Amino acid sequence: LAHLLTLEGLPRAQLEALLDRAAHYADGHDDRAVLAGTAVCTLFFEPSTRTRLSFQLAAQRLGADVLNFDVSTSSTRKGETARDTLRTIEAMGVRGFIIRHQDDGAVAALAEAAAPGTALVNAGDGRSAHPTQGLLDMLTLRQAKGADFSGLKVLIVGDVKHSRVARSDLHALHALGTGEVRVCGPRALLPDDATLDGCTVSQDLDAALEGVDAIMMLRLQRERMDEGLVASIDEYHRDYGLDARRLARARPDALVMHPGPINRGIEITDEVADGPQSLVLRQVSNGVAARMAVLEALLGGGPARS
Ligand code: CP
Repeated sequence: LAHLLTLEGLPRAQLEALLDRAAHYADGHDDRAVLAGTAVCTLFFEPSTRTRLSFQLAAQRLGADVLNFDVSTSSTRKGETARDTLRTIEAMGVRGFIIRHQDDGAVAALAEAAAPGTALVNAGDGRSAHPTQGLLDMLTLRQAKGADFSGLKVLIVGDVKHSRVARSDLHALHALGTGEVRVCGPRALLPDDATLDGCTVSQDLDAALEGVDAIMMLRLQRERMDEGLVASIDEYHRDYGLDARRLARARPDALVMHPGPINRGIEITDEVADGPQSLVLRQVSNGVAARMAVLEALLGGGPARS
């Protein structure tokens, strides 16, 4: 694994090895020797709270030196390209880059420009992939439901069309042999390509919730949306918002997940987001552990490296 750009096509054994290491780190283990003497840089061309900060913490807990590139005060404002920015920071001896970009495929394109031995992690590109979110979501499911996903029914709800989180979750859920993957959302917010292959697709949330073990709610990505895709926010909430009444249709021990940031009162009510079945903050905690596992695999020669 030279870079982590997507979970698509990642062999199950490699995914499970990363999850095993993530579980190890989630148990509270730090090892500052793993990346001692290694410099990494977070390079975010789009806003972030969870991903950026948890990567910073993950790198620090493995002993790395961490640079945080601030786009707003950088020479990109003078027209320097992302490629030249990467090569410039690389020339300072930085070996790991954690990159978020608004364009699909932008991180893969930068990986082509990187020198041998430099590792890139996709921290979210356009609508395409958010592989470490997929990993932390699988870790969260595994902690709650066990490592065998074959008996699980998992439902993904909402704006799948614009969601890199949904794509990475779907890649991971299929790779791990999840019993049934359901997807529910308004037709205009469901992709019409191969993304939903292997899923049970519906527009009826009440029906889709019946008997599921986990519900992964998605953020309505209004910043990536053409006008008119959603008739009104009130209608979206009425038809696809998760409230306590709807949640009761799922299994009594069903987990509620959301990658954040949450549009409270739109895709999920406060009562559910903050309720006993919600794992939203557990997902955030697991983000640090999952990202430690990824940095170790790419830069530290850990057991998940191949
Ligand atoms: N889930 C997620 O990617 O959150 P941030 O945009 O805050 O990093």
